Amino acid sequence: MNLPNPSYRGKVRDIYDLGDTLILTSSDRISAFDVVFSQLVPDKGKVLNRISTAWFAFFQDIPNHILETDVSNFPVPFRDHPDLKDRSVLVKKCKRIDYECVVRGYLSGSGWKEYKDVGTLAGKTLPKGLQESQKLSEPVFTPAVKNDQGHDENISEKEMENRIGKELFGILKEKSISIFNRASEVVDRVGIVLCDTKFEFGVLDGEVILIDELLTPDSSRYWSAETYSPGISPPSMDKQILRNYLETTHWNKMPPAPDLPTDLVHVLREKYQKIEELILSCTSQKSK
Ligand SMILES: Nc1ncnc2c1ncn2[C@@H]1O[C@H](COP(=O)(O)OP(=O)(O)O)[C@@H](O)[C@H]1O
Ligand SMILES: [Mg+2]
Repeated sequence: MNLPNPSYRGKVRDIYDLGDTLILTSSDRISAFDVVFSQLVPDKGKVLNRISTAWFAFFQDIPNHILETDVSNFPVPFRDHPDLKDRSVLVKKCKRIDYECVVRGYLSGSGWKEYKDVGTLAGKTLPKGLQESQKLSEPVFTPAVKNDQGHDENISEKEMENRIGKELFGILKEKSISIFNRASEVVDRVGIVLCDTKFEFGVLDGEVILIDELLTPDSSRYWSAETYSPGISPPSMDKQILRNYLETTHWNKMPPAPDLPTDLVHVLREKYQKIEELILSCTSQKSK
């Protein structure tokens, strides 16, 4: 049976809105600098879906949106659909809390940029003299407002607290930091550094639940402990070779995206498989 058109197409995922539920499908599309390439990375969507699903299962004590991961139990016409198999989840549709709950264990990306420019992280002053990618003395909550048009906007904790209230803010921050700490500890055992990640939460029947994707390479910055060093920008475990390649093309990072060589696509595929293997090897032991 043909699939209906997705209700929403993200850069990488397709979403089918079924009323009280959603089907989130991870495609094999790949993006960099917010631009999607026309080449697909075979199985990337399956890998990301398996990683996210494995983390949701690992954090079984934290309420989440997952209803079903097996496509043979999806409703018709989605049931057993080959385009959805192994790359989709059926989830409870929630009232999304429109914030990205970002947690940073290390100073990188827009966090490093803010510190370098004005000496703060999410508006809070940090000690002077920190280096790029340096480990923070403790993970820092650096929220962003989700902005459907264009880029998300980083805000301070205080700003978020003022907007959503002390109680909800406290719940989101506490859950985010706790998940981050536990995930960091787990991936550390297989030689991975979890630099930062973002969580999304929703509300269903008055309860705050974890939604979206969880701790995937698309929502997180994973580094290999072998190549990690403060003072540099360590290679990302998934997209670094793509970024390096793009540097050689002198592409201006505006659409249209350049074509990707077949060899590069193969290597990207292997990178994703390697990350999956490592993460699944440590998430398969259930959390205590
Ligand atoms: N359980 C859920 N209930 C409601 N919205 C959700 C749920 N899980 C994820 N979402 C939303 O679905 C969308 C997924 O789209 P995504 O592929 O991330 O595209 P993009 O982030 O590029 O818009 C996001 O807007 C996310 O907040
Ligand atoms: Mg998203």
